[in-house]
Amino acid sequence: MFYKIALDGPSGAGKSTLAKMIAKRLGIVYVDTGAMYRSIGLFVLRRGVAPADEEAVCALLSEIRLSVRFDGGEQRIYLCDEDVTPYIRTPEISMAASRVSAIPAVRTFLLDTQRDLAKSASVIMDGRDIGTVIFPDAEVKIFLTASAEARAHRRTAELLEKGIATSFEEVLRDIEQRDKNDRERDVAPAVAAADATVLDNSLLDLAGTVEAALHIIEERLALCERA
Ligand code: DC
Repeated sequence: MFYKIALDGPSGAGKSTLAKMIAKRLGIVYVDTGAMYRSIGLFVLRRGVAPADEEAVCALLSEIRLSVRFDGGEQRIYLCDEDVTPYIRTPEISMAASRVSAIPAVRTFLLDTQRDLAKSASVIMDGRDIGTVIFPDAEVKIFLTASAEARAHRRTAELLEKGIATSFEEVLRDIEQRDKNDRERDVAPAVAAADATVLDNSLLDLAGTVEAALHIIEERLALCERA
């Protein structure tokens, strides 16, 4: 039997790093749903459309063909057969993704793609609404969070490492703005599911976060087995 681990939480809490490590440790598939919203943001920007313009974004949806493939365990995301994985990590695309993800039709558009990926394998899927909307029946639900400052420090270091010039203040402002967009939107707001375990890693390093998450997963899966 396949199982699903829903890993939700705000930007920069370290969901993708954690999910990749958990997937490796458990031998399951990691699915990054933020990459799907980012790809739609990229498509919209390339077409010169404002990501917050709901009508114009919806008019483009029928042209978008999105697919997810796995290459050596790594997720690659294809937009109309182009591998756009390298182009979706800029601050501009982050903000565009946050805007398009508030549009109900965009979320509906991506629903089946996300659900289909869990039909043929056990998955750890990260996002904002995995435990609340995509898989309300997930065997394990973790809401990973950290203070905005802790997340901004980590994200600044990450961007600088990639050679993207930025400042802590700019990143913090960006994170706070995206948190607000994601949390306050009408559709699928980024909040913890009532039955999720909240893991705050503001004071934990990566190894500590992995151990805490594995502990939660083992406990939840054992409970499911007993049920
Ligand atoms: O996790 P991320 O930073 O790559 O996500 C990019 C944006 O997409 C973020 O602003 C929130 C949104 N998102 C969402 O609304 N639902 C998801 N399941 C994943 C991401």
